Amino acid sequence: MSNTISPVEHAYWVVVPAAGSGKRMGAEKPKQYLSLAGKPLIAHTLENILGWPGLSGIVVAIAADDPEFQTLSAAQDPRVHTVTGGAERADSVLAALEYLSQQAGPETIVLVHDAARPLVSQKDIQSLLSASPIALLAQQASDTIKQSQCDGSKTLVSQTLPRDQIWLAQTPQKSPLQVLQQALKFGLEHNPQAITDEASALELAGHKPELVAACRSNFKITHPADLVLAEALLQHRQTLEQLQSGAEQ
Ligand code: C5P
Repeated sequence: MSNTISPVEHAYWVVVPAAGSGKRMGAEKPKQYLSLAGKPLIAHTLENILGWPGLSGIVVAIAADDPEFQTLSAAQDPRVHTVTGGAERADSVLAALEYLSQQAGPETIVLVHDAARPLVSQKDIQSLLSASPIALLAQQASDTIKQSQCDGSKTLVSQTLPRDQIWLAQTPQKSPLQVLQQALKFGLEHNPQAITDEASALELAGHKPELVAACRSNFKITHPADLVLAEALLQHRQTLEQLQSGAEQ
């Protein structure tokens, strides 16, 4: 008998931290509300998640002064809950987990997913749900990896690193609810600077998350040009899903 988790047999919750200001985009509104193919970016992400088989619900952490969330049609779905986020991403995730712990048991599987990754495929979600209880989607480095050093106004190569052990962490990142809650609390107390994603908190608490290779479409929208790329990919979503269920990886 297989001990893997089937998304249909095992329910899970998704936490979406969306309380950031998205300063790196340099835009006048938070990144999650920038327009992608005529809708706010976060609307695409939530609509995508609402289509995942086995989903129990979504907890979205939004800013206290969020201007738009309740205007989204996805926000009207009874499976979508909101909490007020915190100062940093980890505080926002923790706020969502605190809320979730009132609704679900400590062993409940939680997938934390960036609002700015609208194109994660169902195939990737299935792979993640079938992986170890503590796991994350990630992209293995395909470019040669250089370590840098500053020399006055220039950035120089200090060395080339072996790329076969380098992975770029993405989301969703999966963990049982209580394990993640404890790891984030421990990390925020002992080394908040080191907590840049959920996996880093889990690592700090002594866990070894499994890396699950994601399709290339699961990139995070960070710069304005990423919106153009995402829009093009959305137009070819069907072709993309076919490629992803075939030979892409
Ligand atoms: O800025 P960055 O792209 O790393 O943010 C990742 C995610 O964390 C975004 O969806 C952002 O809205 C969220 N976030 C949050 N609360 C904060 C800061 C960021 O929910 N205080």
